[in-house]
Amino acid sequence: MKICVLPGDGIGPEITEQALRVLEALRSDGLDFTAETALIGGCAVDATGTPYPEVTSTLAREADAILLGAVGGPQWDNLPREQRPERGLLAIRKELNLFANLRPAILYPELANASTLKPEIVAGLDILIVRELTGDIYFGQPRGIREEGGERVGFNTMVYSESEIRRIGKVAFEAARKRGKKLCSVDKMNVLESTQLWRDVMIELSADYPDVELSHMLVDNAAMQLVRAPKQFDVMVTGNMFGDILSDEASMLTGSIGMLPSASLDANNKGLYEPSHGSAPDIAGKGVANPLATILSAAMMLRYTFNQEGFAARIENAVKKVLAAGYRTGDIYEPGTRRVGTKEMGDAVIAAL
Ligand code: IPM
Ligand code: MG
Repeated sequence: MKICVLPGDGIGPEITEQALRVLEALRSDGLDFTAETALIGGCAVDATGTPYPEVTSTLAREADAILLGAVGGPQWDNLPREQRPERGLLAIRKELNLFANLRPAILYPELANASTLKPEIVAGLDILIVRELTGDIYFGQPRGIREEGGERVGFNTMVYSESEIRRIGKVAFEAARKRGKKLCSVDKMNVLESTQLWRDVMIELSADYPDVELSHMLVDNAAMQLVRAPKQFDVMVTGNMFGDILSDEASMLTGSIGMLPSASLDANNKGLYEPSHGSAPDIAGKGVANPLATILSAAMMLRYTFNQEGFAARIENAVKKVLAAGYRTGDIYEPGTRRVGTKEMGDAVIAAL
């Protein structure tokens, strides 16, 4: 098992360190892996002038899985687009063909009070968002800003081919089959042709999955339903941009984006695993960030890329134990619980293992 570790910027290094410690702790029980670290994002721009250097790309291509912290920070906000830290993330997704982004939004019962929604609306919430990650308006050509009639015009292209829709649809149907057997496909077919095709292909695919109940929802309604009655959803599948927006919304239903892992997979289950949250520059280096989303991302890595369900479940159970025992980082702290820092949280998970 070859793991490429890309800590990135902000809190990235602190949280990936804890996830690696958790993996290390499983070595004595037979988990065998190598881990090599490289630069991505703003730190890579500072060191090499580009957010996704050639050495990083080589290491990532050679690895079986990638564990990533986070990229970005205010000091890189004014760089030209090509040098922005986010470009590093988009480049690695595209280069490795990581088209299937799985973003679970699970509410841990101990954290029910952390949600801004009423407990009865979110209790027991367990949604999986399947977001297409290498197409859509994020990558469509042409794109740019040009002069037209004496003023500047900005433009991007929203485009999906049938094969791109079909392959992400399959991932979503398969995922639904292993869960509650309900799939909601989100589009904007009342306005956008590319998403009309999206809906048509999802309907065609559904013939192969008679055991999965397929429904469709327009994206504006889906955004509303997520805060009105989120428990109606099991698996949601949508394009790159709608998925970006809806997955942030869904994650916040659970109270803390600091708890949610994600996986981005290619057709052979090679994957990039990262927390759903960002680099949190405001708390970087202070040792207070929540490492659980990254630790849970490492668990997803063991499950999806390495087929080590046993070890994955052990990490997830250790996290549940630690929450039940009252350990909380600042983002999920409430009076009566025990406030700990990044490293102490890592220690607690390792002890619970
Ligand atoms: C995400 C992020 C990225 C995206 C950014 C950092 C490019 O928001 O992973 O959701 O838009 O995909
Ligand atoms: Mg996002």
